[in-house]
Amino acid sequence: MRRTLYCGLLREEHIGKTVVLEGWVNRRRDLGGLIFIDLRDREGLVQVVVGPECPCFAEADRLRSEWVVRVEGKVRARPSAQVNRRIETGAVEVEATHLEVLAEAKTPPFPIDAGWRGEEEPHVSEDVRLKHRVVDLRRRKLHHNLRLRHKVVAAIYRFLDQEGFLSIETPYLTRSTPEGARDFLVPSRLEPGHFYALPQSPQLFKQMLMVAGYDRYFQIARCFRDEDLRADRQPDFTQLDLEMSFVSQEDILKLNERLAAYVLHEALGVEVALPFPRLSYAEAMNRYGSDKPDLRFGLELQEVTEVFKGGTFRAFANAETVKALVVPQPLSRKEIEGLEAIAKTKGAAGLAWARMENGILSGGIARFIPPSLLEKVAVSEGQTLLFVAGPWRKTVESLGAVRLELGRKLGLIQPGFRFLWVVDFPLLEWDEENQRWTYMHHPFTSPNLEDLPLLETQPEQVRAYAYDFVLNGSEIGGGSIRIHRRDLQERVFALLGIGAEEAQEKFGFLLEALAYGAPPHGGIAWGLDRFVAHLAGEESIREVIAFPKNKEGKEPLTGAPAPVEEAQLAVLGLALREK
Ligand code: AMO
Repeated sequence: MRRTLYCGLLREEHIGKTVVLEGWVNRRRDLGGLIFIDLRDREGLVQVVVGPECPCFAEADRLRSEWVVRVEGKVRARPSAQVNRRIETGAVEVEATHLEVLAEAKTPPFPIDAGWRGEEEPHVSEDVRLKHRVVDLRRRKLHHNLRLRHKVVAAIYRFLDQEGFLSIETPYLTRSTPEGARDFLVPSRLEPGHFYALPQSPQLFKQMLMVAGYDRYFQIARCFRDEDLRADRQPDFTQLDLEMSFVSQEDILKLNERLAAYVLHEALGVEVALPFPRLSYAEAMNRYGSDKPDLRFGLELQEVTEVFKGGTFRAFANAETVKALVVPQPLSRKEIEGLEAIAKTKGAAGLAWARMENGILSGGIARFIPPSLLEKVAVSEGQTLLFVAGPWRKTVESLGAVRLELGRKLGLIQPGFRFLWVVDFPLLEWDEENQRWTYMHHPFTSPNLEDLPLLETQPEQVRAYAYDFVLNGSEIGGGSIRIHRRDLQERVFALLGIGAEEAQEKFGFLLEALAYGAPPHGGIAWGLDRFVAHLAGEESIREVIAFPKNKEGKEPLTGAPAPVEEAQLAVLGLALREK
């Protein structure tokens, strides 16, 4: 007996046919001498009915949830009163003639059957779910998410293949590839005291492939970064990584937006309009207080520095930047305090406020607000004004965080997929802690050639040919045009405090490659997990990864990371230090 089709694919057209099904018992019910089994496989479930006349009745009576069975039977229409519209097989059922238990099962640690019946699933803590991930992965939602992920990857391959890209693999055991995180190191047995680093991205290899003339490369690549975890970060995660030769920034953005539109069409049947909007970094920060603005709602930051400049309100008069937010409704003291706490996490000294009541501004800092403010900012009756003042970046970012919170709290976020490009990033940013310039994207990003004369004199003014790909307030990708001339790469290294000797030691192979005739090139990497999580409507990327790490970077299922035998360390020339 071999399976004839998936349980979840049975339809009215199969009525009268004899089928063989294999799957898991989603639920077994005993109703007045009839046994009903919801038999489930990856395509869904179908109702199997076992009557007392069936030789398999006793066997069916033994069944419990999650047992694995094979059933032979005849498909018949359900009586119209019993048609179940919540499931796709709901118009039919299978009358069993044979039933065989293939495996018994322990009682699952939590129920997983409801989703398959089209009902709401009970809440189970993530730790329990990850510990029992195999059972968890049986849930309908995870089946849906992983299938969606597959569709996205398959569409990416189709599109990029048509566009002339070659899929090429690059090593996982390699040297450090700096993307701003710590490396995961792998000790070498053959050369004790030496280490491979797992790649933070395939960046340097893809650049070398361009120098080698492959012209258009892509890879669905695993990347490894030892950094603090969040809902949208994993220590090992997946990138769609691509690189192109003889192109401008414009070519790369255009290709990627066509790719995004194609994938949404193929995977979700959703159409998105092209081109995607573009904002410069400065504009994104000024208007939304974020370099990854969520465009699903408005509530833009208002520039009011000049209104307060030199005025009587000391805290605002001398501030580098003052920004305001007009909230479309009254807010209570308590709500404002909650928002202030959020602003402070981003470095704001406080959150000032006033409200429009009976045609005048009152409460909070109202008496310090010059009348000219209302010429600049439209405020209607009942609305609340919120202000932050201080250094530019802290000010916009803290009010940006308040904006996001209000967007969520006030239900302003519209459904849909809002893509945008953020462009014209600064090449460098000042690292307060180490008192030096550091790269904003990575050290191989090309400065905007118009700004080259400022490189050594006003490095903060230098823009990069770097761009971020943003979807619904999340950075789903980032890339740049690369430096393809060795002398410029050495100049940028010097600016980053990477001396000639260190550059040679760490990146000599890249400098050497650039010396052999490199084409102008550039590319991008998408965070595939993040992208799929958005498409699936999930908050956490763990919901679109089959075997993710938890928030502490552990894998509860296997117990990784785990101690190893001393002998294993000895072979690697390693010993643990006493704590
Ligand atoms: P970047 O460092 O911006 O660029 O990474 C590209 C995208 O990868 C995703 N991402 C992550 N996703 C999950 N967990 C993480 N820990 C994590 N870190 C990053 C983000 C991010 O936008 N080599 C360059 C690309 C290039 O220049 O072509 C790079 O890796 O969505």
